[in-house]
Amino acid sequence: MGNHAVNLKQVSESRRPAGRVLAVTSGKGGVGKTNVSTNLALCLAAAGKRVLLLDADISLGNLDLVMNIRSKYNISHVLSGYKRLEDIIQSGPEGLRIICGASGLDQLADISDYEQHRLLEHLAGLQDETDVILVDTAAGIASSVVSFCMAADQVLVVTTPEAAAMTDAYGMIKVLVRKGYEGPISVVVNMAQSVAEGKRTYQRLADVAGRFLQANLYYAGTLLKDERLCRAVRARTPVVLAYPKSQITSSFTALAARLGGLQWDKHGQNGFFRRLIRWLS
Ligand SMILES: Nc1ncnc2c1ncn2[C@@H]1O[C@H](COP(=O)(O)OP(=O)(O)OP(=O)(O)O)[C@@H](O)[C@H]1O
Ligand SMILES: [Mg+2]
Repeated sequence: MGNHAVNLKQVSESRRPAGRVLAVTSGKGGVGKTNVSTNLALCLAAAGKRVLLLDADISLGNLDLVMNIRSKYNISHVLSGYKRLEDIIQSGPEGLRIICGASGLDQLADISDYEQHRLLEHLAGLQDETDVILVDTAAGIASSVVSFCMAADQVLVVTTPEAAAMTDAYGMIKVLVRKGYEGPISVVVNMAQSVAEGKRTYQRLADVAGRFLQANLYYAGTLLKDERLCRAVRARTPVVLAYPKSQITSSFTALAARLGGLQWDKHGQNGFFRRLIRWLS
């Protein structure tokens, strides 16, 4: 009787759809990953989704620069047993939840099997009670960045129209495709002078990826270069909150809608963190 109840619980839990994971990455640094992931997370949260933002960049002052979220503790404190996972989850606007220092997960292999198992259970539980997990990765094609992308259900590559940013975006896409990434890869062009320039930039990347990698890239949208975004960063307030009626906020809302509309349940149920550990080790 007792066992039966447990089994039913397990069945119903395994049927609940776990949070989908979107990794925001770039190649070149400074192209707008943190602003894109933060504002996207807020748009999704405002649309009623339960959103978790994972800051997977080791460089200091990432999310706190955009959102004034201070990270005294991060994943490494959980790994060392100093904090519990729930202690390091911070609350942001719109009910957004945030974990800083998620790049520290690459040390997961260094803890005991028992601790590893326990943390993975916790992380899986966290994924279960979330609709969307957004990962703000570091720049470049370091293996830990690639691992976060490979484990994600969907990858959003941020580029600008600048040649160097496009080359590095292509470099990142190439690594993912060569490693056999199977989820949708979308491109958002940031800091464009016009939507036309954004579309041209996307089209050039898509043509090269189609021709040399036989890969299909989705167009996620264009974000114009906007002084309001810089002002918002200076005020440490995400632009969609600082300027809710602006064009850039509409662009972020459209971006969120477009990404949400893609078919991205390739990995099916659960297991982002388990996949991540496999890619990290
Ligand atoms: N649409 C935009 N319009 C104007 N300026 C922008 C825009 N997007 C980003 N910026 C500028 O670029 C800066 C860097 O953005 P952000 O921190 O999001 O980039 P990043 O890719 O996360 O950088 P890093 O690689 O260092 O993590 C912002 O502080 C802002 O000044
Ligand atoms: Mg950043």
